[in-house]
Amino acid sequence: MADRLAGKVAIVSGAGSRAPGVGNGRATAILFAREGAHVVLVDRVAEWAEQTLGMIADEHGDAYVVEADITTAADCQRVVDETVKRYGRIDILQNNVGIGGSGTVVDITEDLWDQVMRVNVKGMMLMSRHVIPVMAANGGGAITNVSSISSIRPRGLTPYTTSKGAVNALTIAMAVDHAAQGIRVNAILPGPVYTPMVASSGMTEDQRAARAKASPLGTEGTPWDVAWAAVFLASPEARWVTGQLLCVDGGVTLMSPARGVGDEPRR
Ligand SMILES: NC(=O)c1ccc[n+]([C@@H]2O[C@H](COP(=O)([O-])OP(=O)(O)OC[C@H]3O[C@@H](n4cnc5c(N)ncnc54)[C@H](O)[C@@H]3O)[C@@H](O)[C@H]2O)c1
Repeated sequence: MADRLAGKVAIVSGAGSRAPGVGNGRATAILFAREGAHVVLVDRVAEWAEQTLGMIADEHGDAYVVEADITTAADCQRVVDETVKRYGRIDILQNNVGIGGSGTVVDITEDLWDQVMRVNVKGMMLMSRHVIPVMAANGGGAITNVSSISSIRPRGLTPYTTSKGAVNALTIAMAVDHAAQGIRVNAILPGPVYTPMVASSGMTEDQRAARAKASPLGTEGTPWDVAWAAVFLASPEARWVTGQLLCVDGGVTLMSPARGVGDEPRR
């Protein structure tokens, strides 16, 4: 067990994984625990968070599950109440929940638009507004919002792209609003990492190879790449880093479309 987050209390939303394996939230929760944090695993599907708990317990880490829907204010308040009751404080919030949403403004339904905005944007706002007073009372903390490179490289996922653009704006606004309370707020913009969700979508090996080639590094990203960035941003090593939008994408966003990059949708 390392100690970059020793004794810290961290909440990770979407800490389960909708398919077997390790997604961004699960990987982040596992690394937080390995680095010595007490980790509150929030998911609307308790069973999926329990699986993460089992993985952390196998490594002798400490975690606790709260079943909650982060689009509901009462659930977010309950997450905070249960965390404070169990651990007495909150130092880290990883706003990881996000859902996809493809289509153009012409062909999407209003329901899809509303749902993507509610889950991806309102959910982060609600979790943050309930956590921040507790964090501030402890002298500060770190909030990391999981965005996407789709926020700056749109590709036919207009509801998703718009929601993640709002996450970027929310991040810089919160960074300014809460800096005086000692709270740092940053965002991670993952590229097309290979998660269980992507695996279960039936992606072929050829498609995976094309994704890998889309990055100048020529390799595919994993949820662990996202999670290590989350560890840094949550840790005291990032004490002077706030309001930043960190691409974790192997350099994909540096590439020009004219070079044939990005032939498939990115999340
Ligand atoms: N997978 C990728 O390639 C990729 C790329 C860029 C960004 N992202 C972002 O990373 C984040 C995590 O993606 P993932 O693919 O690892 O996640 P995922 O789809 O596996 O979901 C993680 C968990 O979130 C939970 N969840 C969903 N809605 C919830 C709600 N309303 N309340 C509580 N829990 C809820 C699910 O139950 C699930 O266990 C998202 O914000 C996503 O937009 C993913």
